[in-house]
Parts: sequence; C-alpha cells; structure tokens
Amino acid sequence: MASKKLLLLPGDGIGPEAMAEVRKIIAYMNAELDSEFVLDEGLVGGSAYDAHGAAISEADMAKALAADAVLFGAVGGPKWDRVPYDVRPEAGLLRLRKDMELFANLRPAICYPALADSSSLKKDVVEGLDILIVRELTGGVYFGEPKEIRDLGNGQKRGIDTQVYDTYEIERISGVAFELARTRANKVTSMEKRNVMKSGVLWNEVVTATHKAKYSDVKLEHMLADAGGMQLVRWPKQFDVIVTDNLFGDMLSDIAAMLTGSLGMLPSASLGAPDAKTGSRKALYEPVHGSAPDIAGTGAANPIAMIASFAMCLRYSFNMIAEADRLEAAIAGVLDDGIRTGDIMSEGKIKVGTVEMGDAILAKFKALAA
Ligand code: NAD
Ligand code: IPM
Ligand code: MN
Repeated sequence: MASKKLLLLPGDGIGPEAMAEVRKIIAYMNAELDSEFVLDEGLVGGSAYDAHGAAISEADMAKALAADAVLFGAVGGPKWDRVPYDVRPEAGLLRLRKDMELFANLRPAICYPALADSSSLKKDVVEGLDILIVRELTGGVYFGEPKEIRDLGNGQKRGIDTQVYDTYEIERISGVAFELARTRANKVTSMEKRNVMKSGVLWNEVVTATHKAKYSDVKLEHMLADAGGMQLVRWPKQFDVIVTDNLFGDMLSDIAAMLTGSLGMLPSASLGAPDAKTGSRKALYEPVHGSAPDIAGTGAANPIAMIASFAMCLRYSFNMIAEADRLEAAIAGVLDDGIRTGDIMSEGKIKVGTVEMGDAILAKFKALAA
C-alpha cells in the first residue's frame, strides 16, 4: 500500500478538538517521514444531522467503506437530545460499525507509570496495569430485533430490546481474543451472565468449544460479568485479555478507563475480518470517551485517547509498528515530564490544555525520531 486513505470523522463536542491534534501529527509524518497519508473528511453525529438531517450521509458512509482506515472523534451532545431516535448522533457511529462490519473492538487499558497516582484506586492496584478488553461490536442488544417501544393500547407502553448472539459471532470474537492473548500474557477471561441469560449460556459454550478446538495453549477463565466489574476494581492486574459482549463491553471498558486515570486516556480499534485475498481489514479508530459536553469548547480536553487511537491505526491498519511504538513512547514521555490536562492533573504537575498537550506529544515524537 503506497498512499494510505484516511477518512477523518471528527464529530461533535471535543471530537474536533482532539482530532486537530492528530491532524498535526499526520501533517508532520507526511512532510518529514514521507508517510503518504491522503486525508479526507466527513461529518458524523450532530454535525451531520445539522447539515444533512441524518447522523451520517450516504456519501460519507461510502467514503468510510472505501477508506483504508477511519479516525473517529466523538458524537452527541445536549443540542441533539430531542432529535428523532433514528437520526440521533449516536446512530451515525452505530451505522459505521454495522455497515463496515467492525465486529471486534479492542480497548486496551494501560496505566502509564507516571499516572499511577491519578487513578481513584490505590497506586499498587493499578501500577503496571496492562489489560485488553475485546468487545463484540456488531451484535447483542445493540442491534437485536425487535427493538421498539410498543403501544399496548391500555395506556401502557413496552420498551423492547433484544439480546441475540449466533454461534459464528461468538466464535469469531473469541478467536480474536485468543489470538491476541498469544501475543501478550496468554490468558483470556470470558464474561457473560449465563446464570440469567440464554445468550450467556451459548456464549460460554461457544467460547469453551473454540478454546478446546484451536486455542487450548491459552489459559481460559469464565466469569459472570457483574463479578467481573467488581474484580476490575478490586484487583485488575489478574486480567490479561477480557472478551465480552457488546453491552457488557461498553460498561466494563468505561470502568477500565478510570483505572488508567481518565476516560480521556483510553483508545480503541474497531476491526472487521481480514479480507481472504488481501489480508487487509476494514477499521475505525475511536477514543472510548464521548463528546464531553461539559468541557467542549473550553480547550481543556485530553487528546491522548484520540492520539493513542491513531497509534493503534498505525499498528493495526498500516503495520507501521516503529511509528506506533514511537508515538506511544511520546505520550508516555510527556506524562513523565509532568505535563497534564485537567482530567489527569495532580499536585505539582504542569497543567495544560488540549493544544499544548498535542504540541508536547508532537515535539516528543519528533525528538524520538531524530
Ligand atoms: P463522555 O465520555 O462524553 O464524558 C464523561 C466525563 O468524562 C465528562 O465529565 C467528560 O468531561 C470527561 N471526559 C471525557 N473525555 C474526556 C477527555 N478527552 N478529556 C477530559 N475529560 C474527558 O460521556 P457522557 O457525558 O456520558 O456522554 C456525552 C455524550 O457523548 C452523549 O451524547 C453520549 O451518547 C456521547 N458518547 C459518545 C461516544 C462516542 O462518540 N464514541 C462515546 C460515549 C458517549
Ligand atoms: C462507546 C459509546 C457508544 C456505545 C455510544 C455512543 C453509541 O458509549 O463507544 O463506548 O454505546 O457503544
Ligand atoms: Mn461507552
């Protein structure tokens, strides 16, 4: 792949603010490292609704499907709280995930050494933490049918969401988790609620069978998802890779984010299946956090989750491992220097805004390349 087609979808709230910092890194890489990123840009979320009356236009959807990778900022905000459900900002992100078939969402939670003090948990609980949540992203209760509010005709309504999982969906996501575990500490913890949910019973069976058939060298453990949430805050270092469904993965990854100090720290990669011929896969990279309406426009957002999502893009979509390593080292280096946005600020450190944090990471990235 010579030129690399990147579609930027900054979205709403702090999305564009964080994306601007990634744009600076890409500009430097194109100018100085001959990286040949070809950028295009589109609208998603509330900004797309304002322009087109939809959470993503068909034209931008087509661009996303044609891109080598998509970088996504964040969507949503109080301005769009009252828009119709089908065109709410979040629908744009869900459509991208579904239509691009991005079934595997990788959410690493790493506690940078310099931030071991910033967590609301004790230092020895989070120091050295390195876990990876593998969240199923195109199935489960997010997409199951029926999904509706039904008028029961007696003055009552019924809100219905449907949790559905088929064997192949559980097989492919657990395969991703086992493969990744082999490159790490070789342990997978599968989380479901088989004590209450039929889909949980099937999840457990299929993960166990997949393990037995192809991955018996990897240590496998099963945990009920509620107990998993508790264990994540009690002793998170017991985990290596966690594999779980769409909704549990959403909640557990927000919990994991706080172990690392802030939601503003957690990146993610949403990946499709590798193409049988070319090996390339559709991919979208998105921070775990949302549009943060409470701080949007103040220049206070932490851009690290967005920049680290771009590092994952370098790693997974473009096999630019050295550059990904260097960008992650630049983030760690800036934190070691005591530079902090407000969300990870602690006594005696240097408080900066979004732009200064982006500048500091870029400067460190350049210095490491020299
Ligand atoms: P949020 O992640 O936007 O914010 C939660 C809290 O974390 C806020 O106090 C916010 O200021 C803080 N925070 C988040 N990211 C930060 C950053 N980079 N730097 C500093 N502080 C940060 O979640 P929310 O408030 O529940 O949701 C707000 C909107 O975002 C909603 O419309 C929701 O649907 C949407 N949302 C979008 C995504 C996404 O686009 N991927 C993810 C989650 C929520
Ligand atoms: C996330 C978000 C999304 C989700 C929303 C915005 C649709 O919370 O990516 O974690 O629930 O998946
Ligand atoms: Mn979430």
